[in-house]
Amino acid sequence: MSAREVRNIVILTGAGISAESGLGTFRDKGGIWEKFDWQKLATPEAFAADPHSVHAFYNARRENLIAAQPNAAHRALAALELLWQAEERGRFLLVTQNIDDLHARGGSNEVLHMHGELLKSRCNHCGHLFEHEHAITPDTPCPSCGQSGGLRPHVVWFGEMPLGLDTIYEALGACDLFAAIGTSGTVYPAAGFVTEAKAAGAWTVELSLEPGEISTLFDERHYGPATKLVPEWTTNL
Ligand code: APR
Ligand code: ZN
Repeated sequence: MSAREVRNIVILTGAGISAESGLGTFRDKGGIWEKFDWQKLATPEAFAADPHSVHAFYNARRENLIAAQPNAAHRALAALELLWQAEERGRFLLVTQNIDDLHARGGSNEVLHMHGELLKSRCNHCGHLFEHEHAITPDTPCPSCGQSGGLRPHVVWFGEMPLGLDTIYEALGACDLFAAIGTSGTVYPAAGFVTEAKAAGAWTVELSLEPGEISTLFDERHYGPATKLVPEWTTNL
């Protein structure tokens, strides 16, 4: 597809884009949901039943994240966003399912975190949303209202509504190119984005380590490590 034809881009990323930065994926061999039970750690019911364990799970992931660095794939998407803005080629929307901040640290200006962000927590008492790197426990007082027992990770759990869907569907309805990078295509609504993009007439591309559940829906597919695939793919746009 020649660059001149491409006007509006939507890019969706998943855990695979951060795998080479040392952050685990969920469903690969040895993945996070192989080691931990998401039903005990990533649902509102699990948090109500055992907030200590849920906070400990996210505190450990937050520590790993702070030690991790963005990789060439994150940086390549940041460069593409800059090019798109500099040459006014059209709209550029980067949506991530990841709760890490590696896209931002890799230079991306606008990242839509549809599953929330690990470096943010919010207060169920007063709604205060704040950034932090330190560990949180059920006894940690809210920095705004001072009450304890109300803080939770600003992460979208299973059964909760993802963030930014209006913006995402509006962009999908007007996009010419949709790329899914490092995602298994197993969790909706993100796994349905390719169908929305195709309905809008977009060219669709999958970049991943291996074919996933919805690979046959894509017009173009590339398999390999994101740090190799993404820089190559973005330079040919
Ligand atoms: N380069 C590119 N792709 C990779 C790499 C790599 N180095 N390593 C793994 N992958 C691919 C895998 O082939 C797989 O398709 O990344 C994908 C990871 O899939 P999942 O572990 O299912 O992660 P993801 O698709 O992001 O999960 C979606 O599920 O548990 C929820 O909220 C969680 O956001 C997450 C959502
Ligand atoms: Zn509060």
